[in-house]
Amino acid sequence: MSGPHDALPEADPERDALSPGDSYQQILDRDSREVPEVLRWRSARELPAIRVPIERYVSREFHDLEMEKLWGRVWQMACREEVVAEPGDHAVYEIGDRSVVVVRGEDRQLRAFHNVCLHRGRRLKDCPGRSAELRCPFHGWSWNLDGSAREIPCQWDFPHAKREEFGLPEVRVGTWCGFVFIHFDAEGPSLEQHLGELPRHFETWPLEDRYTEAHVAHLMPCNWKVLQEAFMEAYHVIATHPHLLFSLGDCNSQYDVWDTFSRAVTPQMVPSPHLDERASEQEMLDSFMLASIEGPSPLPVPEGMTAREIFAQMMRMNLQASVPSVQRVSDAELNDSIYYTLFPNFHPWGGYSRITYRFRPYEHDPNRAVMEVLLLSPFRGSRPAPASVHWLDIGEPWTNAPELGALANIFDQDTFNLGNVQRGLRAAAHQHVTLARYQETKIRHFHTLLEKYLTA
Ligand code: FES
Ligand SMILES: [Fe+2]
Repeated sequence: MSGPHDALPEADPERDALSPGDSYQQILDRDSREVPEVLRWRSARELPAIRVPIERYVSREFHDLEMEKLWGRVWQMACREEVVAEPGDHAVYEIGDRSVVVVRGEDRQLRAFHNVCLHRGRRLKDCPGRSAELRCPFHGWSWNLDGSAREIPCQWDFPHAKREEFGLPEVRVGTWCGFVFIHFDAEGPSLEQHLGELPRHFETWPLEDRYTEAHVAHLMPCNWKVLQEAFMEAYHVIATHPHLLFSLGDCNSQYDVWDTFSRAVTPQMVPSPHLDERASEQEMLDSFMLASIEGPSPLPVPEGMTAREIFAQMMRMNLQASVPSVQRVSDAELNDSIYYTLFPNFHPWGGYSRITYRFRPYEHDPNRAVMEVLLLSPFRGSRPAPASVHWLDIGEPWTNAPELGALANIFDQDTFNLGNVQRGLRAAAHQHVTLARYQETKIRHFHTLLEKYLTA
């Protein structure tokens, strides 16, 4: 499971080159509003160049190692806090063989327990819901919401099972930005330590103030890392989503990494440097609206205005009711894709695009994974009920989830590659995948951290 590091050569203008066209910071300079400071923050990090061994994506031994050394020892997003808002609310989170139930107690405290009955081991809860106790459906053993033992039917037959010794084993739990995180290991960093500077970034976009308008989970025929890495760079747009090039600064994206998280920002409503001829502002807007989650809508670009400004204006109108301060929000936050990755698998987006992703291995199979898309929307007044999970099976089109709007078409284009990447990797005669120096920064950062966990 080695991941050899190639030493970086001396500074070389050719090697350190960036794409032609405006840098993201230059695009920000032309914004019609003041741009939040967070979009000006850059990382100083120089990542080592790494080659990623193909076995990381296909080998069962590597998968088992990840289960033990990564998933057993890292903070991971278990559910939205709004799903467990009231006493008795519970949610189930599973990773590999492990199953956790997150519960809101009578005292309103959140707790998480191994989701396993201490009698003969049935999973206690199969799905989210609300109940006054945690009761096993097999023989009826039950626990209070704080995990203390409540009832053992025919207690006379269990003189050896003392109630005080039969509390449910706990799992560490923490919350941030409206998400609940869990950690299996009693040792190790706190959630705050793991998040590092990330909360400072999201002060601008408090996701706890949004509700889950849609939640779609799709089973996919590839390793979880193949899956998530397809959503960590804009380099694939030229081949996978070429129709987006009219209005997407794909290779002008900006990539940054901090300790446990990374960020890419891909500007929209600017032409791709790949195009020989620049589209007009009107053509850019039309092409973006057709591909956008917000759906097609004819919108003329007046003389002297840019497509970026017009699209931002439209978004401000749409958001006015739920985001009173929206008139001050920059064009960048309303146009661009601002996609973060908190190691190892949690991808909240900044700005107003509403997207959050989570990627996980599926059961114990290195060749299958689950991608989840949550659309988190602002709201006014009382919080609407969160959407329940809409599952899509392998081979089902994303368009079976109309709640995703035009995003579903984009995901179908991505999905076309993913099973074929997995098959290709399994057929490979070579040993490593080769990553770009800059545009695949987020992937290189992920593998650098992964290696740390696996060798610790
Ligand atoms: S397995 Fe749970 S009560 Fe028997
Ligand atoms: Fe894509």
